[in-house]
Amino acid sequence: MPRRYLMCRPLYFDVTYSINPWMDPDRPTSMQTGLAQWKGLFDTIVGLGHDVRLIEPVPALPDMVFAANGAIAVDGKALVARFRHPQRKHETAAYLEWFRLAGWSTVRQAEYVNEGEGDFLFTGEEILAGTGFRSESRAHDEVREFFGYPVIGLTLVDPRFYHLDTALAVLGNGEIMYYPRAFSAQSRAVLTDRFPDAILAEEADAAVFGLNALSDGRNVVLPRAATGLAARLRERGYHPIGADLTELLKAGGSVKCCTLELRD
Ligand code: ARG
Repeated sequence: MPRRYLMCRPLYFDVTYSINPWMDPDRPTSMQTGLAQWKGLFDTIVGLGHDVRLIEPVPALPDMVFAANGAIAVDGKALVARFRHPQRKHETAAYLEWFRLAGWSTVRQAEYVNEGEGDFLFTGEEILAGTGFRSESRAHDEVREFFGYPVIGLTLVDPRFYHLDTALAVLGNGEIMYYPRAFSAQSRAVLTDRFPDAILAEEADAAVFGLNALSDGRNVVLPRAATGLAARLRERGYHPIGADLTELLKAGGSVKCCTLELRD
């Protein structure tokens, strides 16, 4: 089934501040390399038959390429992000405008700190919601009320995996994959209980952002270096596709961060 995604070309990509442990402003970054890698991802997703929409990048917003953080978009309703850090707060206006112009029925900014699909992953039945570094737990209640789906709150504890989508990926068919040590003991128990058959990622795959993956239920696009996870996915009947986004990883983002699913 073709899906629809929103992406943002990294025309102003750079690492000029640090709001997660991956970002080192002293390390050189290349917008050209970032753009070429992003284009590779774009072509892969379009090549799988999906419909990719674009939001215009805004100068001086170097993290805007990470479209996943812009909103949560389910059932034609969009809850637009409220960023934790001031460096990203101006992205909100661009997403509000994009969803309004695209004709979505219900569009508003979240009341509480909410970093969109970075922290909120829809399984089709419920919304898995991360907290600990970025989105606040009050945002979980707001998401439950706004979309009318059950919300399962999960607490992240390792600063390298500061968004839920860096530690867990929804594969579809009721399946997920995640890195257990990124979660509190209590959240690990919740995950084991709800997803007893989940694929558990090893440290080496998590550390190259292997969980920052995009699944359409059959094809799973994930960072190329996550070879262990790719093998596990193949065993389960998925078709893993490696993507090289190492330049964007210098900002702490990869495949999933670059894509916001539009469920309109
Ligand atoms: N530099 C960005 C930040 O720290 C990276 C965002 C990555 N996005 C994601 N969905 N995990 O906010």
